[in-house]
Amino acid sequence: KPAPASTLVVFGAHGDLTKRLLMPALYNLAGSGLLDPDFRIIGIDRVPGSTAEWRDGLAATMQEFTRDRDAEFYTPSIDAKAWGWVADRLEYVQTDFSDLAQVRALGEKLPGSAVFYLAVPSRFFGSLVATLGQAGLLAEQDGRFRRVVIEKPFGSDLATARALNAQILSVLDERQIYRIDHFLGKETVQNILAMRFGNLIFEPLWRNEYIDHVEITAAETIGVEQRGAFYEPTGALRDMVPNHLFQLFAMVAMEPPASFSADTVRTAKEQLFESVRPVAPEDAVRGQYRAGTVDGKPVAAYRDSPGVAPDSVTETYVALKLHVDNWRWSGVPFYLRTGKSLGGRRTEVVVQFKKPPVAIFRGTATDALPPNRMILNIQPSQGLTIGMAAKHPGPAMDLAEVQVRFRYEDAFDLQPNVGYETLLYDCLSGDATLFQRADNIDAAWAAVDPVLQAWAKSSDSLEFYDAGATGPAGADALLARDGRSWYPLDGV
Ligand code: BG6
Repeated sequence: KPAPASTLVVFGAHGDLTKRLLMPALYNLAGSGLLDPDFRIIGIDRVPGSTAEWRDGLAATMQEFTRDRDAEFYTPSIDAKAWGWVADRLEYVQTDFSDLAQVRALGEKLPGSAVFYLAVPSRFFGSLVATLGQAGLLAEQDGRFRRVVIEKPFGSDLATARALNAQILSVLDERQIYRIDHFLGKETVQNILAMRFGNLIFEPLWRNEYIDHVEITAAETIGVEQRGAFYEPTGALRDMVPNHLFQLFAMVAMEPPASFSADTVRTAKEQLFESVRPVAPEDAVRGQYRAGTVDGKPVAAYRDSPGVAPDSVTETYVALKLHVDNWRWSGVPFYLRTGKSLGGRRTEVVVQFKKPPVAIFRGTATDALPPNRMILNIQPSQGLTIGMAAKHPGPAMDLAEVQVRFRYEDAFDLQPNVGYETLLYDCLSGDATLFQRADNIDAAWAAVDPVLQAWAKSSDSLEFYDAGATGPAGADALLARDGRSWYPLDGV
């Protein structure tokens, strides 16, 4: 059913996020009838311009950005009715959002409920929320709601995240704050919960008795491209780990929540994050890509990218090992890795099970049995793969590894989705389950803080890898030390 009527106020109307993700998601929501007829969108930015110019600019790129890059099985053309519905509700208001008087003036356009979406660089988050508060725009009265959506990065370490939380919580109530992590908008990420808690066959095995280790990978083929200015002070760890990879980790490892309500789920995550041992610097590996070849195309070294220092020590790859000190996971390492300009693009979780206690088959030692693996495929392929042993046909009792596969596109009629639809709909409807609470943010930063601190002191541990490779040698050594190896990036 449609989300309750409100006005979505987008700060950063001319930015990339608005064009690439927010507007295509709103268009898809409109097409599915999930927005109220009285819904409106006000775009705010500093640049002069009219509503017509803003609308035409968005229309020009809509076709390109509504195409799901992972779903080759459909190519939507723009539905004039759905786009017309959105276009009729757009209004552009040129505003310098650091100017209190100008922000206050917006109040006249907002008699009812409103959601303020901060699609602006992160350095403005705190001050913009403060200005909205001073302008009186965050007060909830007469049954109207006021919410604020905050993009990532939320802080750049534990101390800055805490300071930002303190600043916004002095103006807003926690329930008004929607800290977004777009990984939680991915169908396949939400499906991890469906898989774990909507079935009985997996959960009994989901513990240290049966699981050997878990790998969480977000490998990207794209490099830093034009984002050097953002990426240089950020690096792969801050960009991906305490946010996106920790969300995947939470989905896989948290205890069953008592219900699917926002606070229950977020409390279950918090309990998990609090049981993560702060990562020791020797359990973390960092790398930076040199020139190389990705998908057959030459790629320049990170240090030669625009906005990047020629002697930059920013990591474009990180791998680390998490220890979880709770009853379920004690002794089961979680290995996380992510990097840019790698040889393959895939986001997945590999749960590797222990071997059967004895091998009863003549000639096959337990060690020679293929391990059971459950692979949660998040992108580009979406689904679930189970690796298991089966008898190889023939007179001998030989076992071979086979795979059982569920693919989303085989089972469902997939709708166009850019990944922000659920998140926007939830926030307009007041459901914060898929958003981060202040304590979740803090706990994730706290886990990686020792590594950030060690890396800031010395760049000695930085390794290099060729663009198109699977990462630096140290990442393989991290697992080899434990007698393990990564599931291959080009594996099925
Ligand atoms: C963003 C990071 O949050 O997530 C990017 O800033 C990264 O560096 C992106 O490429 C990955 O998201 P997705 O949805 O492409 O896997």
